[in-house]
Amino acid sequence: MKRVVSGIKPSGTLTLGNYIGAIKQFVNLQSTLSDYEFFLFVADLHAITVPQEAAVLRKRSRDVAAMYLAAGVDPNRTVLFLQSEVKEHAELGYLLQCSTYMGELERMTQYKDKVRVKKETGITAALFTYPVLMAADIIMYDPEFVPVGDDQKQHLELTRDIAIRFNNKYGDFFTIPEPLIPTIGSRIMDLQDVSKKMSKSDESDKGAITLYDDFETIHRKIRSAVTDSIGIMKYDPIKQPGLANLITIYAVIGHMDPEEVVTKYQGQGYAQFKDDLAVLVANELGTLQNRYHEIIDSGTLDAILDSGREKAHEYAFRKVEKCKRKIGLGRIKK
Ligand code: AMP
Ligand code: TRP
Repeated sequence: MKRVVSGIKPSGTLTLGNYIGAIKQFVNLQSTLSDYEFFLFVADLHAITVPQEAAVLRKRSRDVAAMYLAAGVDPNRTVLFLQSEVKEHAELGYLLQCSTYMGELERMTQYKDKVRVKKETGITAALFTYPVLMAADIIMYDPEFVPVGDDQKQHLELTRDIAIRFNNKYGDFFTIPEPLIPTIGSRIMDLQDVSKKMSKSDESDKGAITLYDDFETIHRKIRSAVTDSIGIMKYDPIKQPGLANLITIYAVIGHMDPEEVVTKYQGQGYAQFKDDLAVLVANELGTLQNRYHEIIDSGTLDAILDSGREKAHEYAFRKVEKCKRKIGLGRIKK
């Protein structure tokens, strides 16, 4: 059976960027790749590479799982689980560290960016080895595809390198995965600072729309989104990056091409476009939030996560046992 694997860190409040870049893509794949099996997890082990409050982290992990389901992930087709409940992730992560070089990890741009920001609070060893754990999360399940946003491209390249190196040394063992990055919406930018991506943050942040925002909040954030003084509806990410970002959001949520959005609002000012975009986003998120509220308090969520843990563990256990034998761990078989 061919497989698709993906995950999201429960490290902050999910944003429209996560929704468009990762969650929505995953749900779409589920309907297009009918003969595939899907593995999807909440990457809680990744979240603790930076300080977390225990109770908050636990709540966020549950929230992420509920949001995936609310967005349309079908639990009958997807093995949905918490990464920390399948111990083999950490185990394979260690085994792969022994096939990864410091130089490779030092080159990771996400690590370099985080080091720059977090210098005062200290940098954990796990923040450095993070991409190896991510490689383990993926190649554990031998997937063909890994749907992610643009910022994970480099981590996927490293994952492939690690898998290829292991296969060269020990014989064909891991499937070499392909990243699936959406052609539009792979990098939704911050509404206030279009030079950085929209990222998980406080709900009060004006630059990011969270999946929990109500219509008024969404409207306010979109209304105050930075655009330009050119004043002409055009999709030009270089000269009009703020507007292009909004057009992208409109296009993905409204199932249109960016150029179709431009044509629709040709000759109009940005205000009408922004108002309509707010309605479009609020409708989509409203439906999502209603489903989320039904799921979060239900026993079904726990039943789904229990079953996901069992199925993931079954696969992971066998894979890691075989991996250890390849490497030479364990006893001589008599
Ligand atoms: P993270 O929030 O870093 O755990 O990311 C979870 C998933 O969402 C990854 O596949 C990211 O690539 C994707 N993602 C995060 N932020 C954005 C964004 N601003 N635009 C598009 N995709 C994103
Ligand atoms: N590192 C990813 C992120 O920050 C989350 C993640 C962890 C992931 N393991 C993964 C994504 C495996 C895809 C596959 O977004």
